Amino acid sequence: MDEKRANFRLARVLLALGGASLVLGMLAGLARIEWPTRLGGPAVASHAPLMVSGFLGTLICLERAVGTGWRWALLLPFISGLGALGIALGVDGARWALVLPGLGLAGLYLRLARRPSLPYLLPMAVGAAAWAMGNALWALGRPLDTAVAWWQAFLVTTIVAERLELARIGLQGRAPGALFLAGLLLLWASGSLALTGNPLHRLVAGLGMALLALWLLLYDVARRNLRLQGLYRYMGVALLSGSLWLAVGGLLSLVAFFAPELPLRDALLHSVFLGFVMGMVFAHGPLIFPSVSRLPFAYHPVLFATLALLHLSLVARVVGGLLGLAPLRSWGGLGNALAPTLFFGSVVGLAVRGRKGRSIRPAERAEGGHGRAG
Ligand code: HEM
Repeated sequence: MDEKRANFRLARVLLALGGASLVLGMLAGLARIEWPTRLGGPAVASHAPLMVSGFLGTLICLERAVGTGWRWALLLPFISGLGALGIALGVDGARWALVLPGLGLAGLYLRLARRPSLPYLLPMAVGAAAWAMGNALWALGRPLDTAVAWWQAFLVTTIVAERLELARIGLQGRAPGALFLAGLLLLWASGSLALTGNPLHRLVAGLGMALLALWLLLYDVARRNLRLQGLYRYMGVALLSGSLWLAVGGLLSLVAFFAPELPLRDALLHSVFLGFVMGMVFAHGPLIFPSVSRLPFAYHPVLFATLALLHLSLVARVVGGLLGLAPLRSWGGLGNALAPTLFFGSVVGLAVRGRKGRSIRPAERAEGGHGRAG
């Protein structure tokens, strides 16, 4: 079996490892929102690292490793996937292991960024370093919200720079560049402020995310996709609705600074982590899944239904949380777990169907055939 095929086989195993963290992370989240699950204490408490490192960190590292073709890079998703499961099982040392993939990923980006055509990889390297920092702070036993501020910087930075990578947003002219940089610098500054326990970090993070959301809504060509058909339109709707949630998360973070007594933590965190981050996974999934697994992908409108479920259930959860309606918040939370389950179930189902049909080549169908760097 040639090395390339061996890499793709390994990539599918690592994809499943990331999937295991997603399932455990969702069950832990459901337990935290008072749905009966059989999960034990350590697993329930590791909801956030399972989602941020075990699922998203693994997926991001895997995408880069497959894209570069560097075999050593496949170690990164392996460590983040296994490390997160180790934490869910209560293996304490696993917390420090989770610092490594962030450092490795930052190194990978810096190596790629030496190519002059790839400036957007520099912010990604900072994002990856923020991931390592968040995990190191968590391993040191610092307050969870300090680590959360760095995990948020990691995921938001990676996604906005990824949009830049897909060349859908050029830094033409001064305004887009200034808005982009101001948003990122504020987001990174919020992590440093959180380190000192300064409540200003909510204000600064809120401003940063609101500016980045504005940047995406003004300059992302996703709006043009709305006029197209099929997968293009689906991706356009997913991208824009995700950016709207980033704006909501930014605004709620600002309100949380001025009114810290309000019960906003759940709403502001999941506007960003579910509405924006998971929303962007739904948008890019049709690109990422086939390019990582080398399985064909045939678009189907069922993806729209999973996207609608994600957003409507999140609206229910946020409104329930803000108005103190616990049942609405809980049912919304259940919908938040059902949506990714149905989405990934559909993507795998469509891949299996595509394989039987062998109709199309994966990436060609998505986003106008632009290749991916590294
Ligand atoms: C799938 C559905 C999800 C459910 C039901 C869920 C549930 C919860 C709950 C109930 C909390 C405690 C919030 C509070 O303070 O009141 C929480 C916290 C958190 N969640 Fe989620 N969540 C979900 C998805 C996600 C995703 C996808 C991410 C990340 C990408 C995420 C990241 C976090 C973080 C960082 C925290 C704060 C740390 C903590 O308190 O453990 N969650 N989640």
